[in-house]
Amino acid sequence: VSNKDEKKERKNVKLTETSENEGVSEEYFYRMLSPGALRYSEPYNDEESEILENFLKENTATKGMNFVAVGAGELWYLRFGLEYTKDYVSIEPLQEIFLNDSVKYLASHSGRVFLVNKRFSDIQNEEMPAGPSLYVFLFNILAYIDEYVKEINNVIEEGDILFISSWNNTKISKYVRRNYFDFLNSFEKQKIVDPENGTKLCDFDNFPFVKINFYKKHERIKGLVADVLIIYT
Ligand SMILES: C[S@@+](CC[C@H](N)C(=O)[O-])C[C@H]1O[C@@H](n2cnc3c(N)ncnc32)[C@H](O)[C@@H]1O
Repeated sequence: VSNKDEKKERKNVKLTETSENEGVSEEYFYRMLSPGALRYSEPYNDEESEILENFLKENTATKGMNFVAVGAGELWYLRFGLEYTKDYVSIEPLQEIFLNDSVKYLASHSGRVFLVNKRFSDIQNEEMPAGPSLYVFLFNILAYIDEYVKEINNVIEEGDILFISSWNNTKISKYVRRNYFDFLNSFEKQKIVDPENGTKLCDFDNFPFVKINFYKKHERIKGLVADVLIIYT
C-alpha cells in the first residue's frame, strides 16, 4: 500500500478505546490539536500549562521522574519534560501524523525522548524508562479513556504521580468549550462531541481515588477554564 493510500485509508479509522467513543475518528482527534481549534481553546491550554509548570517548579521530586505525556500530539510539553524532569515520553497513537521523520530522528537521538506510538490502554509498564513517572493526562484526554482506572492500574508503580486536566464547569469554561467544539463539529455532518450534553468530561468530584493502586493523597487545582487533579501514589 502506498503512503498516499495508507493516509486515505486512515481517514476514517476510529482511534478510540471503546464503543463509547464511536464516531470520534482519527481526523477529529487530529483536528482537536490543530491551530484552528487551538485558537478557541487557548484559555484552557494557557491555564493548564501554567498550572503544570508551577507544579513542576514546586515539586522538585519530579526532577528524577519520567514526564509521560498522554495524548502528546506534536510532543506537547517537551520543554517541561526536559527542563524539569529526567526523561520525556510521548504516548500518542497519531504519532505518524503529528511527527515528521526529522522530528522523530531528533527525538530518537536526544537520548531523553521516547516515542510510543500507541493508545494509553495499549502501553505496558516495561515500555517506560526506568524510575518513577509523572503521567500527564493533558487537555482532557482522560475523558476518552473508558476504563481509565483499570488502564492506569495496569501501568503505575508506587511513587508515580498522575496529573490530570479537564474542563471546569464555570460559565467561561463552558463558553470556551462550546466555541471549541462548534468549530470542530463545523467540519462534520453531525455533532461528534456535543458540548451541550455533558459527555466527554471528567467527573473529578466523584473520582474513584481509592481504586487507584498505591493511592496516597490528591490535590485539586481549579482555574477559570481548566480543572486539574493531581494524584500521588
Ligand atoms: C488530548 S485529546 C483532546 C481532547 C479534547 N481537547 C477535549 O477537550 O475533549 C487529543 C489527543 O489525544 C490523542 N489520543 C486519542 N486517544 C488516545 C488514547 N487512547 N491514548 C492516548 N492518546 C490518545 C489524539 O490522537 C490527540 O492527539
